[in-house]
Amino acid sequence: KKNFVLAIDGFSSCGKSTVAKALAKQLNFVFVDSGAMYRAVTLYVQRHNIALDDEDAIQKALDDIHIDFIPNPDKTQILLNGEDVSDAIRTMEVSDYVSEVSAIKSVRKAMVHQQQQLGKKRDIVMDGRDIGTTVFPDAALKIFMTASPQIRAERRYAELTAKGELVTMEEVKENLSHRDHIDSTREESPLRQAEDAIVLDNSDLNQEEQLAFVLDLVKQRL
Ligand code: C5P
Repeated sequence: KKNFVLAIDGFSSCGKSTVAKALAKQLNFVFVDSGAMYRAVTLYVQRHNIALDDEDAIQKALDDIHIDFIPNPDKTQILLNGEDVSDAIRTMEVSDYVSEVSAIKSVRKAMVHQQQQLGKKRDIVMDGRDIGTTVFPDAALKIFMTASPQIRAERRYAELTAKGELVTMEEVKENLSHRDHIDSTREESPLRQAEDAIVLDNSDLNQEEQLAFVLDLVKQRL
């Protein structure tokens, strides 16, 4: 029997990973946060002061980068060359730069390849921007998540301030619209809704309602 791939795409801070994590737990699927992989590459590039137009240096970095996910009951850890960078990749510093790094062709090529390997054998839930369009065009189920810009900014602001990061609502809004713009206008696999994706607008839905909505669709296709 073929493994089940559940692809969840959408704009920044729509709550994709929250739903994806809950689904993975419920279904006993592996959860893969593809954005965390682009964030880890970004962290590496920033730490090594690599210029984004230096193709050789970027390729060398990609050859050196090894990303692992360690599933834990409460939180999946992400390792960059063995180092736990789960928190380091969530700062505004990384968020402000990640879309520029993600738009680089060689970066996408390397990450998409790794993501496809992860989804070859096991049942997975993967969230991102191009999972249903590029990484797994044959996914068993594709969800495209949306939420109003105001709600998305409020959620991200609450998340960052809860972690003690000093940001203003304006900065958060600016970062979200900046990323959305780059993500949806880049040449290489831009963010767009796959033709066969099902839209989940969660502006007015709580977590249980979102979960129930997707679980129902999964069961129809299992
Ligand atoms: O999902 P998250 O917001 O953590 O992703 C961070 C950034 O990584 C996105 O803004 C986007 O630029 C990039 N990304 C991507 N393709 C994916 C997942 C994330 O380009 N599949």
